[in-house]
Amino acid sequence: ASERTLILVKPDGVQRKLIGTIVSRIENKGLNIIALKMLNVTAELSKQHYAEHVEKPFYPDLESFITSAPVVAMIVEGPEAVSVMRMLIGATNGREAAPGTIRGDYGSSRQMNMIHGSDSVDSAKREIGIYFTDNEICSYGVAL
Ligand code: CMP
Repeated sequence: ASERTLILVKPDGVQRKLIGTIVSRIENKGLNIIALKMLNVTAELSKQHYAEHVEKPFYPDLESFITSAPVVAMIVEGPEAVSVMRMLIGATNGREAAPGTIRGDYGSSRQMNMIHGSDSVDSAKREIGIYFTDNEICSYGVAL
């Protein structure tokens, strides 16, 4: 079924000039980007997004990292978009991510792992609501 997922190019991806590469990989896969913007994540937004991690020991570092430079937020839509994007992204830790995945090809950090993708359809709904309003979501006409 067609799904939507929330993707972020994280601050390290933006600073390393990987926005274009990441957007290309999503487009090459045939998924539709139906919303896209750059923003600075605030501490408040970080706590909302990472609600399930706020109590974890690594959260303070995660918050300083995610608020350190802009992110590029996107909604990606297509058949099984949530799991397809997770496959393209690779394992959380860049040292364990398979070559051919975004994290496997470009990074070796567990925290500065360049990209975020929602882990389920339910988290995608929640995360999309945090980053985007309905009027920022675009619809495509018939396929070209
Ligand atoms: P993400 O998939 O965006 O979701 C949670 C983020 O927390 C994760 O990517 C990493 O950036 C970070 N993270 C997860 N586990 C750890 C950990 N053990 N130590 C440091 N950062 C982590």
